[in-house]
Amino acid sequence: MLSNKIFLITGIADNHSLAMYTAKEIIKQGGKVICTGLGVSEHHKGLSEKAKIFLTKNFEDFKNAVSEEIEEAQVEILDVTIDENIESFARNLSQRNIKLDGMLHAIAMDKTIRNKEVKPLIDVTKDEFCDTMDVSAYSLIRLIHYLLKHNVLERGSSICSLSYIAAEKVTFHPYRNISIAKAALERISVELADELGRSHDIRVNVIRFSPFMGSKAGNATLNIEDVNTSDKMSPLGNAKPMDLAHEVVHLFRPNLRITGEIRHVDGGYHITG
Ligand SMILES: NC(=O)c1ccc[n+]([C@@H]2O[C@H](COP(=O)([O-])OP(=O)(O)OC[C@H]3O[C@@H](n4cnc5c(N)ncnc54)[C@H](O)[C@@H]3O)[C@@H](O)[C@H]2O)c1
Repeated sequence: MLSNKIFLITGIADNHSLAMYTAKEIIKQGGKVICTGLGVSEHHKGLSEKAKIFLTKNFEDFKNAVSEEIEEAQVEILDVTIDENIESFARNLSQRNIKLDGMLHAIAMDKTIRNKEVKPLIDVTKDEFCDTMDVSAYSLIRLIHYLLKHNVLERGSSICSLSYIAAEKVTFHPYRNISIAKAALERISVELADELGRSHDIRVNVIRFSPFMGSKAGNATLNIEDVNTSDKMSPLGNAKPMDLAHEVVHLFRPNLRITGEIRHVDGGYHITG
């Protein structure tokens, strides 16, 4: 289904990242992947020792997970908060004559959730708000901007990002700050679907997925009670990472006329009250 197609997979932290399931499914369907992970790039300036250690370990874990799970995958460092890093990444792909047929945006960060404790929105600082927005939403615009600028995204490419129901509704788990960034991510996707559909035949869709504790971000954010509650509320129970991978791969199929969708892969949780 995806033979001779190359996809950019962002957001792999380790073997349990949602993006990893999609990357493996793309390979199974005959496609290729380029995976990006957060690490220390030449564009990082004035990093503290602590930040350097964190980023270096993050990149090592990412690289090891990719080499364990995917044969011959290319790995690259990418910090979406640094424009120069995104641009040099895109330029490098262009210099190597690589053309992408799509991208999975699976990146999110919110420092107002710590040890599963959620800071009330009323106490969120401007920096905390803007950092979450930058990493989790605006990064979609910047990534596509530089991929197009360096002529790396093919006409007819498909872009997909990951969200959840809290972008629209207050849920039993009070996500607060990150919910706002997810709402922005969804709106950005819809606007880009219109702009890029008309200009480049590029499709842009978002998938709202069930709570999943297996990943680093999920484990840092969710309680088992939350996951059990949504499992009970969902007519089909919580969706699994493979359900998500299948849906992303479906949206990555060439020549589909599906764009601007906010889809639910959540076992039907969104229809419940
Ligand atoms: N786990 C869930 O319950 C769940 C549910 C619905 C949607 N999602 C979304 O799925 C996506 C992937 O999350 P996951 O659950 O697989 O967790 P994860 O921790 O495996 O992935 C999050 C990724 O974001 C990356 N990231 C953070 N800051 C970055 C930066 N500045 N530059 C580049 N990358 C950066 C991290 O390195 C990590 O790879 C996120 O957008 C998340 O909000 C998760």
